[in-house]
Amino acid sequence: MTALTLSSSGAATLRADVLVVGVAKGPDGPVPAPGSEAVAEAFDGGLATVLETLGATGAEGETTKLPVSGLKAPLVLAVGLGTAPEDGEEYGTEALRRAAGNAARALNGTGKAGFALPLASAEAVAAVAEGALLGAYAFTAYKSDDAEAGKGAKKKGAGKGPLGEVALLGVKARDKAAKAAAERATALAEEMNRARDLVNTPPNDLYPESFAAVAAAAGKEHGVKVQVIDDKALLKGGFGGLIGVGQGAAHGPRLVKLAYNHPKAEKSLAYVGKGITYDSGGISLKPAGHNETMKCDMAGAAAVFAAVITAARLGLKVNVTGWLALAENMPSGTATRPGDVLRMYGGKTVEVLNTDAEGRLVLADAITKASEDEPDAIVDVATLTGAMVVALGNRTFGVMGNDDAFRTAVHELAEEAGEPAWPMPFPEELRKGLDSSVADMANVGGRMGGGMAAGVFLNEFVGEGITWAHLDIAGPAFNEAGPFGYTPKGATGSAIRTLVSLAEWTASGELG
Ligand code: BES
Ligand code: MN
Ligand code: ZN
Repeated sequence: MTALTLSSSGAATLRADVLVVGVAKGPDGPVPAPGSEAVAEAFDGGLATVLETLGATGAEGETTKLPVSGLKAPLVLAVGLGTAPEDGEEYGTEALRRAAGNAARALNGTGKAGFALPLASAEAVAAVAEGALLGAYAFTAYKSDDAEAGKGAKKKGAGKGPLGEVALLGVKARDKAAKAAAERATALAEEMNRARDLVNTPPNDLYPESFAAVAAAAGKEHGVKVQVIDDKALLKGGFGGLIGVGQGAAHGPRLVKLAYNHPKAEKSLAYVGKGITYDSGGISLKPAGHNETMKCDMAGAAAVFAAVITAARLGLKVNVTGWLALAENMPSGTATRPGDVLRMYGGKTVEVLNTDAEGRLVLADAITKASEDEPDAIVDVATLTGAMVVALGNRTFGVMGNDDAFRTAVHELAEEAGEPAWPMPFPEELRKGLDSSVADMANVGGRMGGGMAAGVFLNEFVGEGITWAHLDIAGPAFNEAGPFGYTPKGATGSAIRTLVSLAEWTASGELG
């Protein structure tokens, strides 16, 4: 992955391939942002005019390359920061994160870039570091070298690989807060990018067993205890949801437990992730046009995996247990039929009326299992419903739960971390919609409020008295449109920053 360094040298003395400066949208044209002083000097104070001549406005998403002489770098990249903050105010962290991401994306194939952006605080350092490392991400594992080498590329693969090194300029070497911020950003971005790789990996290579193997190896590396419950053990243990969803596929289901424990932890969190490595819909088969991206249906499990490993790497003073509910949802002669009744882990029975509502079935087993440890809170993360995408769009996830204060806390932590989220209610009539004439419950109700009905279903499996939140990331988990800011096309790493922030918040004693 892209390397991150802190450099106390300024833009005038750094040897690099390119210098990144910020440019804001001023009332009368583009305004070079703080951090750009040395570069502006090389233009004899005419940087704003040159930028304006090149058509730059300072708008978010804009990148402008210009040659420079008199510095140790031959090229400048000016990246738009959007409207400049009021006098005396600092740039917002999300504006910095996005600008750094846009810059990193524009510099694919470059060796070393010095980032001379506004880095006035440790928060700003964290944001720029995160944005740059996340923006530099590229998924190239399935591109052969020849295909990677674009027209005119100097050597095989050139021009496509991620930016090699990001040096944040003007950060004092003795600044402990900045150093910690950079270390946190590096761990977080590395785990987010690994989660993106997992989600982008095609489902012929990523299935429950191979996902579990990746988790086991990472756990070993970072001191996280990993336990894999295989299909035989799931059947014996009565995990009817995981077995029922997975029984149509050639690859059997797995339930993976990742346990990170801190010796002085006072609180415990359980994170539960939906890990459908491919969702064909099962016998209730999805039509063409709806299944091409369904390798992304394990993004919740990837997020949980990344969050637990990040918590371990940061040594947070909290116990975090991750549960990955892994299965492949396929139609076959052995698949669950619409009309079948499953006996879930814990004994509740569910009539499966639609095999495409499979996520809630695997999550139900995992939430029941997670409840046995009596954690202080459970958070599940799932690409659960198309209805949530219809409600909130492609970039915002829904937050639901059984405790308004906790749901609000999770929502606020998400927004602070740069992840758009929105609270959704559990209207009381939705529970009745899930009544079944033969079993304790059906897995689907009416069409209306489908995203919330899925949450109401999960609520039935949360252990008595346990605080719980549910994140439906079906919209933001996978970006089918073009890249923007630090978000690439394809897997995004949705909810990971929220889960890590929640672990930090809990470690600092905020969870009641
Ligand atoms: N994995 C899908 C939800 C989904 C949709 C994720 C779009 C990402 C993008 C889920 O398993 C599903 O199929 N849900 C059904 C539920 C319905 C049958 C009640 C849906 O949303 O249509
Ligand atoms: Mn489905
Ligand atoms: Zn699904």
